[in-house]
Amino acid sequence: MNGQEASRELIWLNGRVLPLSEARVGVEDRGFQFADGVYEVVRIYNGRPFTLAQHLHRLERSSSGIKISLPMSKRELTRQIESLIVRSGLADAMVYIQVTRGEAGRNHQFPTCPPTLLFYVRSLPPATPADEAVSVKLKTVVDERWKRCWIKSIALLPNVLAKNEALSAGFDEAAFIDGENMLSECSASNLFAVVGRTLVTAAAGASVLPGITRQVLLEIASDAGIPVEEKPLSLGQAMESEEIFITSTTRELSWVSHWDTHRIARKCGPITRQLHEAYQARVLRETAKIRAAG
Ligand code: PDD
Repeated sequence: MNGQEASRELIWLNGRVLPLSEARVGVEDRGFQFADGVYEVVRIYNGRPFTLAQHLHRLERSSSGIKISLPMSKRELTRQIESLIVRSGLADAMVYIQVTRGEAGRNHQFPTCPPTLLFYVRSLPPATPADEAVSVKLKTVVDERWKRCWIKSIALLPNVLAKNEALSAGFDEAAFIDGENMLSECSASNLFAVVGRTLVTAAAGASVLPGITRQVLLEIASDAGIPVEEKPLSLGQAMESEEIFITSTTRELSWVSHWDTHRIARKCGPITRQLHEAYQARVLRETAKIRAAG
């Protein structure tokens, strides 16, 4: 990122727009003291947000899951976010959205203050074409998170510790298993395996975030006639599967080359490649369509 791009990184903070680097939130904001908030990460392609409606729908579910009512309608939020993206002028970027229970004297009891709402645009490198997609190495880590992973909570300490356990051992991402060796998802991505010709991923819920990339890929797979099953996989079943990949808004798809001590693949598998190409085609279609309409 060059200096010019950094200067375009803008934030909307409780109704004020300012350069991201100048934004400040008080030390008694409940996000800071209690991790009492939820968030979203939305990818911008061609200067347009991809699947913004789905992200805002999940934001609403997450915030109602922790009993915060969004201080703005989804329609108004969409308008404000789109206008901030246009003002930033950034083509390849992300929007980070966060809502916390607000700023009040420290007390576990819910305060009566208004929530803190912010969203900012940050520059990102352009997406890598599917035929140059990078591989990742997974390390298995025991899942010590709470049982409401469908809420996209800003309380990410177990995820942060798991990710860094993986990184410090020379891996790229942590794959969570429970006490019965069943897989859920990764520290910041969903996990898929191709078993035979069937695409398998754990159902969203207590231990799995309903990832937006995950949902788009399930739709793409069904449309392409690839059988899909949402069911838990054991670590052993995953290791024996044909292809493994992980997904998230910012990474799209990454194929798994190694898992713990096992070599999984030497190159990206055909179904992973097909799905990634179809995903990028959909991104292009949808971001171009909005641009033409707008
Ligand atoms: N993380 N699971 C977890 C635990 C995640 O944190 C994420 C995304 C995903 C993928 O969800 P989606 O496809 O909606 O991005 C799954 C974001 C990108 C982050 O924390 O930066």
